[in-house]
Amino acid sequence: MTELFEHELPTIPRGRSSVFELPTGLMDMAAAGPIHRLKYAGGHVGWIVTDFQLCRKVLTMPEFSSRPDLRHSAIHEAIGDGQPPEERPGMFVGMDPPEHTHYRRIVAAALRLGEMRRLQDDIAERARALFDSDTGERVDLVSQVASPLPALVITELLGVEEEVSHTLSSCLERMLSLESTADDVRKMFTVIFDELGAVVARRQEDGGPGFIQNMIDDGQLSHAEMTSIAFQLYTAGHETTTNMIALSWLYLLNHPEAVAAIRGSDAAVADAMEEFLRFFSIIQFGISRAALTEVELGGVTIRPGETITVSLPAANFDAQRFSDPHRLDISRRDRGHLAFGFGVHQCVAQQLARVELTIALRVFLERYDDFTLDSYEMKSDTIVHGLNRLFVRQSGTDRP
Ligand code: HEM
Repeated sequence: MTELFEHELPTIPRGRSSVFELPTGLMDMAAAGPIHRLKYAGGHVGWIVTDFQLCRKVLTMPEFSSRPDLRHSAIHEAIGDGQPPEERPGMFVGMDPPEHTHYRRIVAAALRLGEMRRLQDDIAERARALFDSDTGERVDLVSQVASPLPALVITELLGVEEEVSHTLSSCLERMLSLESTADDVRKMFTVIFDELGAVVARRQEDGGPGFIQNMIDDGQLSHAEMTSIAFQLYTAGHETTTNMIALSWLYLLNHPEAVAAIRGSDAAVADAMEEFLRFFSIIQFGISRAALTEVELGGVTIRPGETITVSLPAANFDAQRFSDPHRLDISRRDRGHLAFGFGVHQCVAQQLARVELTIALRVFLERYDDFTLDSYEMKSDTIVHGLNRLFVRQSGTDRP
């Protein structure tokens, strides 16, 4: 690797020419080699990995930590180091084993697959009701369906009351906005946290069903720990699913031949969904880790304290791993993508996400013939790639 002066070092590649293209800077970087120096938002000089195998390796090495107090942000100084306002017990996303393992086991058990499957009918019913809620000629499918659906699912899973869920979603929007100041982010964090704390307390009293009750039954966690876990599920489960749904629908609106190929086949819908996950790689700036010790990796030496970004989009477009990676091929049967990460922190709710995405696709296919694409607006420069708006024109509004 050629040594560069600090002022010549690249920052994380941003900016896409279209919804369906990765930033050209990222592709150039990946073509130039598997690992590169990277200048972070606050001036820290760390690394970025773009090669599939190397990305997986970083995510399985105990030498790399997920602790937010050790990591720098490549993206935004204000959200910056990603630190919560104060240390809270149970924030397992930012822990390393063995502490992480303890919480992760409890969360994974409480998110039982059987329960996720049982949610299917309910999610489908809610999706249909959302589609039916606006019979106007021109409709934004993001605000009407793709955004409220995951919010309804996660609030229902957590047993959050409807009035509280409105407060939570407006705070979350501000918390995730790259335009918010660090102070704003902290304030929103606290409001969401306190609201969820009150929900956990109510479930401890009334023993209502759901995920929180599963944790209560498990008996190992305090109120503060359960609140942190509810917080992490709530904040991680919205934007991601909404944008995956919206992008998948946009693709199908542009590709009637893909609709014809998957309609009526659950297996074909499942394959298409996995390919959408790979191709859109919505965690577009990747995930990061901090080196705890000196590590030799991909021909370079990473020093303790340096942050390394694992570019999930670059890994998912690695031609050594995926044939013809820039082609969105809904019949691809290769499920080894890194859209949900890899290693001990791999998305703990991926089964729930898959259930939501599958139902969103199936219900959309039921309605597909009523819709024609009108216009859409791509998100610009947000942590999660996706759409702000997806307008369709709808006919046949005399559905039963
Ligand atoms: C298509 C939708 C989704 C995508 C693409 C996605 C992606 C990811 C990725 C890449 C990670 C790994 C982070 C890391 O290693 O640092 C992750 C972890 C996580 N995700 Fe998801 N996610 C999705 C949906 C969800 C949903 C619906 C929830 C909650 C209901 C959720 C909750 C979590 C949590 C709690 C973690 C941390 C797990 C741990 O640290 O052990 N995700 N997700």
